[in-house]
Order: sequence, then structure tokens, then C-alpha cells
Amino acid sequence: MSDDFIPPRGTLDWLPARQAARHAMLDRFRAICEGSGYAEVATPVFEEKALFSRTAGESSEVVGKEMYLFEDQGERVLALRPEFTASLMRLYLGNGMSREAQPVRVWCAGSCYRYAAVQRGRYREFTQVDAEAIGSDDPAVDAELIALQLRWYDALGLEGIELRINTIGDKGDREPYLAVLRDYLDAHIDHVDEEIRRQRDLNPLRAFDTKHPESQKVMADAPKIADHVSEAAREHFAAVRSFLDARGIVYTVDPTLVRGLDYYSRTTWEVAWPELGAQSGIGGGGRYDGLAESIGGPATPGVGFASGVERVLLALEDQGRLPAPATRVDAFFAIFADDARPALHALLDQARDAGVRCEADLAGRAVKGQMKQADRIGAARTVVCGDDEWARRACLVRDMASGEQVEVPLDGLVEFLVNAKG
Ligand code: HAM
Repeated sequence: MSDDFIPPRGTLDWLPARQAARHAMLDRFRAICEGSGYAEVATPVFEEKALFSRTAGESSEVVGKEMYLFEDQGERVLALRPEFTASLMRLYLGNGMSREAQPVRVWCAGSCYRYAAVQRGRYREFTQVDAEAIGSDDPAVDAELIALQLRWYDALGLEGIELRINTIGDKGDREPYLAVLRDYLDAHIDHVDEEIRRQRDLNPLRAFDTKHPESQKVMADAPKIADHVSEAAREHFAAVRSFLDARGIVYTVDPTLVRGLDYYSRTTWEVAWPELGAQSGIGGGGRYDGLAESIGGPATPGVGFASGVERVLLALEDQGRLPAPATRVDAFFAIFADDARPALHALLDQARDAGVRCEADLAGRAVKGQMKQADRIGAARTVVCGDDEWARRACLVRDMASGEQVEVPLDGLVEFLVNAKG
């Protein structure tokens, strides 16, 4: 393999401690979702490009710049999924789920793909956990999902996170507001950056996400969408807030929060851990009452969120709260009698079959080296078999924490280890 295959800086490697933490994080997410009536589903890794371009929108960064596209042998243009929401709505529509009790609550987790400059917290292949409630426009559902997302962070022990919420109104509110926003941009066009000028016609809302300091100043005074939404959307948002307030959830209303995907309507939210740096957004979501129609379905309300597992993991790591892997090894076999090795390796497998996590020295280490190795891998016990023990068809089992040692006949070893494990 050439040097070119050595991963670049910024790549997040799933080494054992992180992989164990990742599983613990996903297990938590599963338990929390299932405890709230969300059922696990899965969606394909690649989909027709149009599924994303018609929902998240051509003018969004995700679709316009970040999709991995390829043509298959049937000349279909396919995309590696950049997110789950459109696929989950399609799953709902395509399986007659509107006939089930509403809303249908689903969750899923898996890899997503976005082409972007790799840096800490931003990867081309990353993992999302996602939860959606489809089929209800009740503001209680928006709040339920926000609460569910926060419950996960809380269960992981994440601290210092910030929730921002906003309403961006309904599709009908959008055009009149965009006209007002374009007029404002035109009046300040000499003070905004090139990207905003480029987006003026296509998607002027993106101007709120600018990183350009002078443009940020201009956008701080720009007309905000929340002031241009219908009475119905305003009431819906007030109700979402009352459901959050009753739960004691702390949030900031951020009138500049528009989110980067076109399908949103009404409630939008983002959760960040600011200390994470440039990529501090650990999860976001919102309502998407017009999405079903954009893929040919009947009007169907929906709301949900996704969270980036890698970003949450980095935040946990920074806060020293990475879920600890379970003790990796129950028993380390230190075999010094060469003749004993086949019989002890057979016993080791029998113990594994009985649910005891075991390892054996394979490096031919001396006594001291093997004890050190047992310590290093955090083994709860060490099974020692030297020539004397082998002659008696026995072994010594040493409790690594207390240092206590007992002799155990080999034919009772598996049972002993199972009982010792408790
Ligand atoms: P999103 O804000 O595009 O929303 O992504 C959700 C989360 O995925 C982000 O907050 C971030 O933590 C993580 N993420 C996004 N891009 C990357 C990347 N390149 N590297 C690492 N992590 C990343 C959605 O995807 C919507 N589908 C959420 C949703 C569900 N809205 C309604 N339902």
C-alpha cells in the first residue's frame, strides 16, 4: 500500500475505544427512541439523485455542492444519501403508513455522505442518528422530538449544549418574505459578499449563514422571516414553545436560524456545543409539511431531527465523558507449559462458548511479561498453567484486583470462570 492511503489529518478513526463508545451511544439512542414509541427502520445507502434535489433543493449546499453522484448501468443518476429525511418520507408514503395510527414514529442510524473539505467534525462519510414523526402537525410532536434529542445528549452526559429554535412559516409565507429580503439585499448589495450576491435570486435565505463579517452585520438588521409568517404559523410556534417551557427546556429563539435544507416549514432548531469549534452543530431538525408533495405524495405533515454521531463523540471526548468500554477481558490465559497449550486453548474456546471473554498469550512472553499483558488489557483474572500445574492437570486462577490465587482442576475450569464472572 502506498503512502497515499494513509488517512489525512482530520479523519476520525474508529479505533477500539471510539468504536466501543459509538456502540454505547447508539444503544442509548435506540433505548430512548424505543422508550418513546419510535420504531427502527432502514433506508438504502444510494438513491435517485432526484429524491434529494426535489426535497432538500438544488440551491442547498447539500444538494448543490456536496452530493456524491454516479451513473449506474441503466443511466440513472444516483446519489449516496446525504441525509435520511426524504428517504423516510418516501418509506412512509410507499408503504401505506398513512393508514396506521398517526403520527408514525420512526428512527434510524447509519452512514451519510457529503463532499466537503474534511476538518475536525466534518467528514465525507459520517454517521447520523435520525428520528421522525410523520403524519401530525400537532406542535406537541415538534416539542417531543426536541425533548427526545436532548434526552439523548443528557443520557450521554454531554454538558453545555445550546438549543436555538425559530419558525420559518409555511410555503405560502415564503415568496412574499423573500421579495422583502431581496429588496433589503439590493439596498445593501455593496456591503455583502460574492456568495450572497450569487444566491440573491436562487436562495437569499442562505445569506443568514454567511461567515463574512461585513455581511453578518448587514444580515443582523435584515428583515427576519419569523416577522413575516402567517398567524397560523405564529400560533403553532407559540404552542411549540409552551410545550418546551412546560418541560423546563432552555432555548434561545434565533430569528436568523433558517437551516440549510429547502424542505423546512414552521419549526426549525439546532443544537450546538459552541466549544467544539467551527463545526459545533451537533444536531438539527425541523418540520417539513411540504416535503411529501414535492415527491408526488399527498400533503403530509412531518417533523424530525438528525444528529451527527462523530460530532457528539468529539464533544464527549473533549468533556472527558466518552462512554467507557465494558471490561474487555474476563480471563487472560498465561500458559507456560508448552505441552498444555492445545488442551488450554480448547478450554479457552469452551469458556468463550459459555460467555466468558478470554484471551491467551500468543507472543511467547515470559511470566512477568504475561502478567503485565494481563494488567494492560484490564483482565479480571489470569489463568496460569506452568509445568507443575500441568502435571497435576490443574491451573492457578489469579484475581487481578485482590491478588488472591486459587488452584482449579482443569476439568472444573470453565465452570469456575463462569461462576467467578457472576
Ligand atoms: P443537517 O443539519 O444537515 O440536517 O445534519 C444533521 C447533523 O448531521 C448536523 O447537525 C451534524 O451534526 C451532522 N453532519 C452534517 N454534515 C456532516 C459532516 N459532513 N460531517 C459530520 N457530521 C455532519 C439533516 O440532515 C436533516 N435531515 C435533519 C432532519 C431530520 N430534519 C428533519 N428531520
